Amino acid sequence: MTITVRAAAKFNLHLGVGPVREDGFHPLATVYQAIGLYDDVTAGEADGWQVTLSAEDHIALAEVPTGDDNIVVRAGKALAAHHGIDRAASIEIHKGIPVAGGLAGGSADAAATLVALDRLWSLETSDEDLLAIAGRLGSDVPFALVGATAVGGGRGEIVEPVADNGAWWWVAVGNEQGLSTPAVYRAFDELVGAGVAEPQVPERLLMALEKGDAGLLAEALANDLQAPALALRPDLAQTFADGEEAGALAVQLSGSGPTVLMLCRDAAHAREVAGAMQAKAYDRVWAAPGPVAGAHVVTY
Ligand code: C5P
Repeated sequence: MTITVRAAAKFNLHLGVGPVREDGFHPLATVYQAIGLYDDVTAGEADGWQVTLSAEDHIALAEVPTGDDNIVVRAGKALAAHHGIDRAASIEIHKGIPVAGGLAGGSADAAATLVALDRLWSLETSDEDLLAIAGRLGSDVPFALVGATAVGGGRGEIVEPVADNGAWWWVAVGNEQGLSTPAVYRAFDELVGAGVAEPQVPERLLMALEKGDAGLLAEALANDLQAPALALRPDLAQTFADGEEAGALAVQLSGSGPTVLMLCRDAAHAREVAGAMQAKAYDRVWAAPGPVAGAHVVTY
């Protein structure tokens, strides 16, 4: 028997970052949205851990490890340890989320693996326990479980759903060269240092979501990692300029980058903006709706 679970990419509508903590992480006040780019994880019975990879066109797999250091193996081992069982599994990952793109693709795979193995092994882990295990695996893993739109606190792992009445459309523009999340946080420390205030989620963003108004959302987007990421990768400024010229309502870096997201009015506008970006010779362009569901079983 195999079980396939689908998990979505995330975009931080707001990413407020505070001064670095003693454990090396940064306190976050973020608003996550799950957007329609997906990885599928298929888990099957096996005597030892095995990871295999495949991907949609234009998604490079070079940076994804297939050994025990892959986050899906860490996820599987953490779930087995939680239940005090000694089991392994084969995990097939089919990537539709760009790798090292600031879209939390690895976190999506970890969340999908937790859900798939919980089913495969008939564990019936509670949501609370699954979220706790997810939080130990990585800052974005709990959100990948819950999906939709949620506020994230702590280092990102404490998630709380928020009202979102929008039917948003995004165009995501990927970049050939990935960007390291720790390197971007270090650049943040150098640029703004310890002097920065504790981050907060702005009320006007929550209002824009509740109203489902794209014009208001465009005004309310913000990402504290954008300036440090652009300092490391000045070439990305061209993508921002091209997105604005293509008619996007707003253009913002996704998480620590390098993927750039463009807010559109609706599906037709997203097709138009995506077409304009392709005409400018970008070959990693995806239109995606949001919000979409968190990790969910797609084969029974
Ligand atoms: O939690 P995750 O494994 O996704 O974090 C990757 C890296 O990003 C961390 O090792 C840390 O350098 C940085 N990070 C951070 N503050 C956060 C989240 C991540 O400094 N809130």
